[in-house]
This record gives sequence, C-alpha cells and structure tokens, in this order.
Amino acid sequence: MKNISIKDLTIPDLEILLPIERQVSDSPWTENLIKGCLEKPNYYNYGIISNSDLVGYLLCQVGADECHIMNIAIDTRYRRQGLAKQLLTHAVQIIPAAQFILEVRRDNTAAIALYASLDFQLIGERKNYYRQGAERDALVLRFITGCSDNFDEQGQQRQKLENMQ
Ligand SMILES: CC(C)(COP(=O)(O)OP(=O)(O)OC[C@H]1O[C@@H](n2cnc3c(N)ncnc32)[C@H](O)[C@@H]1OP(=O)(O)O)[C@@H](O)C(=O)NCCC(=O)NCCS
Repeated sequence: MKNISIKDLTIPDLEILLPIERQVSDSPWTENLIKGCLEKPNYYNYGIISNSDLVGYLLCQVGADECHIMNIAIDTRYRRQGLAKQLLTHAVQIIPAAQFILEVRRDNTAAIALYASLDFQLIGERKNYYRQGAERDALVLRFITGCSDNFDEQGQQRQKLENMQ
C-alpha cells in the first residue's frame, strides 16, 4: 500500500518539479518562474509524496482573501490515484482565503473533471488567455470556502454573468 503525504515545497525541490513540469506541459513554466513562486511570501506551495517520491505539486498565490491556483501537476505515472484531489483538498483546508480562483484551458478535460469533482463552479471565460496551443480560451472557475449556502450564491452570480453576454 502506498504511503501518501503532503509537504511545503522549498527551493531544493526544484530539481524534481522541473522534470514533472516539462513532462506534463506543452509550454512548461521556466525554472525562474517556478523558483519565484517558491521564494515569494504570498505563495503557498505544496508537493505530494508517494512513498518517498515527490510526484506532484500545487502552486498558489494569495492576495487579500483570494487564492489563485497558479499551477497543479501530477507525474503521468501517478495519475488517477486521487493525488491532485488530495493536494487541492489540503490547500482549501489550510490556505486562509475566502475563495479559490483558477483558469483552465477549455479543452483540458482531465483538469475540468478534477475541479468539478471538488465543486468548483464556472464563473466566466477568457478568450485567447493562452498564447500557445490549439485551444487558447480559458474557463474561469471558483470555489468559495465555507458553508454550502455559498454554492447557491455562486449559481445566482453565474446566472447574472450569462445574462450579461
Ligand atoms: C489534471 C491533473 C492534475 C489531475 O491529476 P490526478 O492526480 O490524475 O487527478 P485525481 O486522481 O486526483 O482525480 C480526481 C478526479 O478528477 C477527475 N479526473 C482526473 N483526471 C481525469 C481524466 N483524465 N479524465 C476524467 N476525469 C478525470 C475524476 O473525477 C477523478 O476521480 P476518479 O479518478 O475517482 O474518477 C493531471 O491530469 C495533470 O497533471 N495534468 C497536466 C497538468 C494540468 O493540466 N494541470 C491543470 C492546469 S489548470
């Protein structure tokens, strides 16, 4: 049975994060970009460890009461084991934010299914958000922490947004 744990990421973890980032992304973040996330005080960065191997990560920026999920990735060999879900669940429990926001490429069905499984809600879209790739549009998703009453409120807000288009 696998022993799973979550840790705060530090600079020495870069040498493991970078190969994962290059493995999972067509336009991988640069070393400097990831290093910046690990150094900045307004970032919360978590890694997930399977047995003794760091196999995935989550990078989050926090400002005011909002957490922006900047990047999440799991090594392809460790997919569909609930690891990304565990990372996000951990973040939502630990990070002091009233809401979590993220952009996801419209055709990223795996990530969209992941966020949907955690009750993230669609709140908008950003045309040509990505500079590279066949699909450049992003969906904007949000998770409001706290009681389930929030989700009704989210639904109403989404309705308003749709009415404006
Ligand atoms: C998206 C990603 C992080 C998911 O990681 P993961 O550890 O495999 O996801 P989990 O095992 O925690 O999945 C949890 C749930 O999400 C959904 N899900 C995840 N991957 C899925 C897929 N490929 N197809 C359909 N549903 C999927 C399922 O509901 C899954 O639960 P289940 O396995 O019980 O059905 C991973 O595919 C990845 O690293 N992708 C490349 C990087 C990326 O796209 N990041 C997102 C940027 S916005």
